[in-house]
Amino acid sequence: MATTEVDLAGIAVGQAITVTWQGKPVFIRHRTGEEIAKAEAVDVSTLRDPQTDAERVQRPEWLVAVGICTHLGCIPLGQKPGDPRGDYDGWFCPCHGSHYDTAGRARKGPAPLNLAVPPYAFLDDARVRIG
Ligand code: FES
Repeated sequence: MATTEVDLAGIAVGQAITVTWQGKPVFIRHRTGEEIAKAEAVDVSTLRDPQTDAERVQRPEWLVAVGICTHLGCIPLGQKPGDPRGDYDGWFCPCHGSHYDTAGRARKGPAPLNLAVPPYAFLDDARVRIG
C-alpha cells in the first residue's frame, strides 16, 4: 500500500504506536510537554545530523519517524512501556548501542543520521496519512 492512514484518537499523551508503511515500521509518538521541551532545547550545532525539532515535526505533540536505525537497520526500542529509551529519552538501538532523542535524532553510538521522517499529512486533528 502506498499510503497508510492512522487514527490518532486512542493514543494517549506519552504513548507511542508502531504502524507499517511500505513494509517499514513507522513510529508515532504522542509526545509529552517535557519531551517536546527537551527536543526544542537542544543546541543543533552539537548534533551529528543537525536538524531542529521544528524541522522534524508538523505538530509538536506528534513525532512521526521511520523506526529503522540509521546504522545497520535494526528496530530501536522505546515504543513500549518498559522499553529502554536510551540516554536521551527517545529510542535505544540494542544492536550496537545507538541513542536517539525525543525528536528521533541520533545522539550517541554509531548511527550517523536521525531517524528518517516519512512524508505525511494530517487529515484532521485525529488522523494522519503517511506516504
Ligand atoms: Fe542500530 Fe547498529 S543497527 S546501532
